[in-house]
Amino acid sequence: MTDISRILTQVVEDEAEVVVDRSLRPHTLNEYIGQRELKANLSILLGAARQRGDAADHVLLHGPPGLGKTTLATIIARELGANIRYASGPAIERAGDLAAILTSLDERDVLFIDEIHRLNRAVEEILYPAMEDYALDVMIGKGPSARSLRLTLKPFTIVGATTRAGRISSPLRDRFGATYRLDFYDIPDLTAIVERSARLLNVDLHQDGATAIARRGRGTPRVVNRLLRRVRDFAQINGDGTVDAATADRALAALEIDDEGLDGTDRKLLAAIVQKFGSGPVGVQALAAVLAEEPETVEDVYEPFLLRLGFLDRTPQGRIATDGARRHLARLGYDVPPPRRSDGDQAALWDGTVRATDAATDTDTDARAL
Ligand code: ADE
Repeated sequence: MTDISRILTQVVEDEAEVVVDRSLRPHTLNEYIGQRELKANLSILLGAARQRGDAADHVLLHGPPGLGKTTLATIIARELGANIRYASGPAIERAGDLAAILTSLDERDVLFIDEIHRLNRAVEEILYPAMEDYALDVMIGKGPSARSLRLTLKPFTIVGATTRAGRISSPLRDRFGATYRLDFYDIPDLTAIVERSARLLNVDLHQDGATAIARRGRGTPRVVNRLLRRVRDFAQINGDGTVDAATADRALAALEIDDEGLDGTDRKLLAAIVQKFGSGPVGVQALAAVLAEEPETVEDVYEPFLLRLGFLDRTPQGRIATDGARRHLARLGYDVPPPRRSDGDQAALWDGTVRATDAATDTDTDARAL
């Protein structure tokens, strides 16, 4: 018998920051700031399911980390008046693990599967009939006498989350009734989130302080909430605890977060492309090696916001640092050598007529798909 508590994510964590971060999360769709279109669509889906008394359709959430996928899953369960269980793709190792979780769900419960693109094949195949027909196909016996037995599950809702919609197999993707993409938050929404969090944390925050934090928040609620806590610490030690723009600017400068919200690792990534690889193109493997990170971390954590800022382009030949990135680094005093590519090469990067450099030979399906 599988011990499912081993697979389901521990909700109780003693790390103080994680606990504070959780305490700042909105509990209802009404409290949730930003992602207006997503909220409007989700509200209809949940309202209709609630009215019918049915389990809601399965929901797939995708987008960069820190934008609120887990928070939304928790809100979905709450709005449905149902329980939620948290699991993650890599933690569900065997088909039996998933079967044990599914049979433990009550009617209309929500099962959240984070990093759903990392489910293995055998587990995924259990999920297909479970999502489609609330059925679990179990093999009894071995060899020629083996037969399949179909068990009926109580109706439930899967909320899947991924940073990589493109990595989900199409049979799995097709079984979600709704797919929502989370986008980076704009400055007014981030400002409202900082203000709400400051109220919950009893921080005396001025409007200009909220904007100063939001502007450097990388479009990400998790980041602005972390910056707010660091700025609060700074204001407490270096002043009377009040957070205004001047205090926020000083605190964020001390944390080496620049005026675009980039931290040391972001700048190291851009500087590596500019200084070591002639501004690109360069493959993600080579970049990951420079940063001592996994390629997947570079793609999922660092690149999305740099792409959004227009500091990075993913071309079929590899990553390039844009002129905007080069200007940003130059303003900060970095050595910015001329790019290896000439103007004529720039367009050719997109149609594949430039010969790939050695550094750009890794196959990156996401970049090619762009
Ligand atoms: N805290 C973190 N994310 C939030 C959001 N989207 N709305 C309100 N508060 C938040």
